[in-house]
Amino acid sequence: MTAVSRNTAQHITAPVVTDRLVLRLFTPADTEDRYAYQCLPEVARYLYRPPLTREGCAESIAARARGTDWRTDGDTLLLAVCRKEEPGVVGEVVLTLTSAHARQAEIGWVFNPRHAGRGYATEAAGALLSVAFGQLEAHRVFARLDALNTASVRVCERLGMRREAHLVENDLDGDRWGSEYVYALLAREWQD
Ligand SMILES: CC(C)(COP(=O)(O)OP(=O)(O)OC[C@H]1O[C@@H](n2cnc3c(N)ncnc32)[C@H](O)[C@@H]1OP(=O)(O)O)[C@@H](O)C(=O)NCCC(=O)NCCS
Repeated sequence: MTAVSRNTAQHITAPVVTDRLVLRLFTPADTEDRYAYQCLPEVARYLYRPPLTREGCAESIAARARGTDWRTDGDTLLLAVCRKEEPGVVGEVVLTLTSAHARQAEIGWVFNPRHAGRGYATEAAGALLSVAFGQLEAHRVFARLDALNTASVRVCERLGMRREAHLVENDLDGDRWGSEYVYALLAREWQD
């Protein structure tokens, strides 16, 4: 019988390197780069929250700058995505432990539109899935996205995630009823 529960507690800080990118912890010096995209209404459009303020960017960087334990529900790894050969942050990926008991994690991504359309989000999210299924021994990783967020849908599908659910008008986005897709991947479905 397959083991379903393991003690995977650990502290994550290490950078992750891909062909073109480095995923690393944010530092306070990244605040302006992060604010440059997190302040944009078009970036926050499907995030069910307002754009971040500069202070909000700095606060969440400070809270996540030392990495995260990966032990308790809600533990969150936030990584800045940088190009190998160039300075600056082009976006971010995030992984949250939603159930330590069942080894479930939620993945997300937010990128600067100046760097859209180059495959960076897919490449970074793919690397984070490798960490989730490898080092962190996740059993299932899922993404929740507004059904109108077609760019994000394409990221999920390029990663080979399965559309598991279409929740209809399950949330309120201002005065718009929002519908949500849930995409997911199991460890045994992930091919590095
Ligand atoms: C979701 C989001 C990250 C997607 O960004 P994106 O630029 O479309 O995604 P990628 O960086 O993976 O780029 C993929 C595109 O680059 C193209 N591309 C160009 N050169 C490429 C290369 N060398 N390698 C791979 N893809 C390349 C792909 O064909 C693809 O284009 P397509 O989607 O038109 O088919 C971005 O729209 C975003 O940050 N949105 C706001 C935040 C948000 O909604 N986050 C999701 C919440 S659930």
